[in-house]
Amino acid sequence: MLSLAVVNGPNLNLVGLREPEIYGTQSLNDYLQSLREKYAQIEFSFYQSNVEGELINYLQQCRGRVNGIILNAGAYTHTSIALADALAAIALPAVEVHISNVLAREDYRKTSYISGKCVGSISGLGLLGYELAVLYFLSNQGATPGENL
Ligand code: DQA
Repeated sequence: MLSLAVVNGPNLNLVGLREPEIYGTQSLNDYLQSLREKYAQIEFSFYQSNVEGELINYLQQCRGRVNGIILNAGAYTHTSIALADALAAIALPAVEVHISNVLAREDYRKTSYISGKCVGSISGLGLLGYELAVLYFLSNQGATPGENL
């Protein structure tokens, strides 16, 4: 069974409430639950933390346990060499997701330490970006079920 970890960083627990003009009004939690129902053939693990070290601990625990990572590191995208190192260390295919178009926003959002450690990035397509990342892994271009375990 394909096993995917969807990892969300700081403030993403508030999607649906926070800056709705940027992030929309749907709760990320509800959206991810709907993905779980729609793709019942996938074993999903959802994790969110506002704490950098906790995200790193979680990513390390994904090693040998899941086939792929879908990561929205929130603002840590633009600051965290440690998260980028964790991604490199676990050597799992990862897709970077951003709800908003980070390249159309403030300059400090134009740097991503995460992108270079990922197979690809999706930005600006709203919550749909998470589903598109799932489809990438389902397409078999990503991890094959059983691989890396
Ligand atoms: C975000 C974009 C980041 O720049 C921001 O800090 C976030 C959310 C997005 O999903 O669009 O918290 O990752």
